[in-house]
Amino acid sequence: MLLKFVEQYLKYNKINLVNSTFIGFTVIIVIFGSLIIVVEPILPDFIKQSFRYGKHKHNGPAIALVNRIEVPKSWFRHFYIFAFTWALLALYLIIKGIITHTAAPQSVIEFLDFVAGGSENRNILINSNSALVASVLMTLQCGRRFYETNFVQIFSKEGKINIPYYVVGYLHYFGVILALLLNTEGFVKGTLPSSFSLMKITLVQYVGICTFCFSWLQQYKSNMILVNLRKNPNTHKLETEKHLMPTGGFFNLVSSPHMLFEILMYVSMLSVVGKSFTWKLIVMWVSSNQLIIALLTHKWYKENFKNYPKQRKALIPFLV
Ligand SMILES: NC(=O)c1ccc[n+]([C@@H]2O[C@H](COP(=O)([O-])OP(=O)(O)OC[C@H]3O[C@@H](n4cnc5c(N)ncnc54)[C@H](OP(=O)(O)O)[C@@H]3O)[C@@H](O)[C@H]2O)c1
Repeated sequence: MLLKFVEQYLKYNKINLVNSTFIGFTVIIVIFGSLIIVVEPILPDFIKQSFRYGKHKHNGPAIALVNRIEVPKSWFRHFYIFAFTWALLALYLIIKGIITHTAAPQSVIEFLDFVAGGSENRNILINSNSALVASVLMTLQCGRRFYETNFVQIFSKEGKINIPYYVVGYLHYFGVILALLLNTEGFVKGTLPSSFSLMKITLVQYVGICTFCFSWLQQYKSNMILVNLRKNPNTHKLETEKHLMPTGGFFNLVSSPHMLFEILMYVSMLSVVGKSFTWKLIVMWVSSNQLIIALLTHKWYKENFKNYPKQRKALIPFLV
């Protein structure tokens, strides 16, 4: 009953839930991120404590209410379990559609209509070939992050994030995978998937795929540098949970190369699914949140390491 009402409301007002979510996230992160960067000293502690996390967490007086909605930062690993499973499911549906040349199950089409605010909001912008390529790339990324966060990455025990951040993590991957299906052949009412061929991949798409793979590998290398900082180089056993000064690889150029490569992965996917408006919104959201976190991280490194390399930038080599 309630679901029917929500469906009618979204349809009547032509509200695309996925697009609205990413627009909302971007607006919030830009407003609060800018406030933290520009006028932090005059902001109330509850905003600072809610916004900051990890090594650049707020160190002033703790607000009891905000403490109560915090969870361990290591819970990052939960949303990669979800993201990897969700990505595999989408990949399965895309492959099945292409092989059997049949449309997605009716329940999937109805669900996509629901989140998009009705079937009228869903025209075809992504062919099956591009959807399969994009889905393989996202599954690779979610799979690697699942492996890293659950088996390799070392989270300090006192690291915290608040519940809204935690929920945003799930919604992010939920929306990213949906974006690969919302405007795709075989997932839009009355359409069928087309065949897959490597020959159909354009030169621009090959450039995007190579950029994605390079960024994927470099993000892994950057994450491993962070992991090894906390281990004894000889015994490879955990030695400290402190935040130390990373060096090597792209850390020699920027303070947060893993965030630079996160952005690059989403940007490079524009060459594959760039006709999707949802994907453009996702790129805006990822770029803005990673830039703000990278700026806070850079400031933290400069304040905490007297010998921090002067030429090292926050996110973009030689520029920012
Ligand atoms: N797509 C998106 O919108 C989005 C949003 C947020 C994050 N992400 C991605 O998720 C990944 C993790 O993000 P994050 O914010 O958790 O990154 P982070 O703060 O740099 O932490 C990554 C890991 O490295 C550890 N670490 C960080 N700095 C360290 C240092 N100086 N010395 C030793 N260990 C250190 C952290 O430990 P602690 O946990 O103890 O700090 C954590 O285990 C990144 O690749 C990022 O790009 C993506």
